[in-house]
Amino acid sequence: MTERRDFLKKSALFSIGSLAANLVSAEKLQAIEALGKEELFTEDFTLAPLPYAYDALEPFIDKQTMELHHDKHHQGYVTNLNKALQTTKHPAVTSLEDIFKNMTAFDTAVRNNGGGHYNHTLFWSLMKENKEAKPNNPDGKVADAINASFGSLDEFKKQFADAGAKRFGSGWAWLVVENKKLKITSTPNQDNTLMSISEVKGTPILALDVWEHAYYLKYQNKRADYITAWWNVVNWTKVNELLAKAE
Ligand SMILES: [Fe+2]
Repeated sequence: MTERRDFLKKSALFSIGSLAANLVSAEKLQAIEALGKEELFTEDFTLAPLPYAYDALEPFIDKQTMELHHDKHHQGYVTNLNKALQTTKHPAVTSLEDIFKNMTAFDTAVRNNGGGHYNHTLFWSLMKENKEAKPNNPDGKVADAINASFGSLDEFKKQFADAGAKRFGSGWAWLVVENKKLKITSTPNQDNTLMSISEVKGTPILALDVWEHAYYLKYQNKRADYITAWWNVVNWTKVNELLAKAE
């Protein structure tokens, strides 16, 4: 335990030292030190590699978009989340889900970058390659649940695509489970339905990034075309897994 505490202290001091050199004014550093060093320390969040090759989702989502989206945008959220947690006072952090449950206790930078990290990690896992040029339709429990909730797969896809297409500016479309019911919604920026500040709450089982950085290189301003293409690479096996866990 003592070793752990020493480690925490050293890590915190190291973080503060590094930040002092690069990012933090003298006043800010003084304020941070006044908070107590251990409260500042957090285990760094890290970016996992994509679960497939950058070009795996071609021709629907292009390699260059995936490279930039994962290596630059997602990495940026992870880097900035760590910075935000190291420079602000906040409750102890054990997971992103814990942060989201108590969102108002954290800085806006934690909300934006923590959401960015969670949303993108989920998004990568919800896609898979499709080289077969045949309809990529759900099966199993999620297919039944979609039919029961929306009447048909086509009606579900229409409502979900609308949620993404009509989200003004940047944001996400979601299929979530709340009280065993499926619900379609959308959120602005990097918010998600696990956040205590979200109007619509629920456990996400399908997520679609409708930020321009997700499609602009290949589809320019045609967000609807990107969404139409994206259905081809949805990983319905993963959606089924998440549905089973959420119920
Ligand atoms: Fe994104």
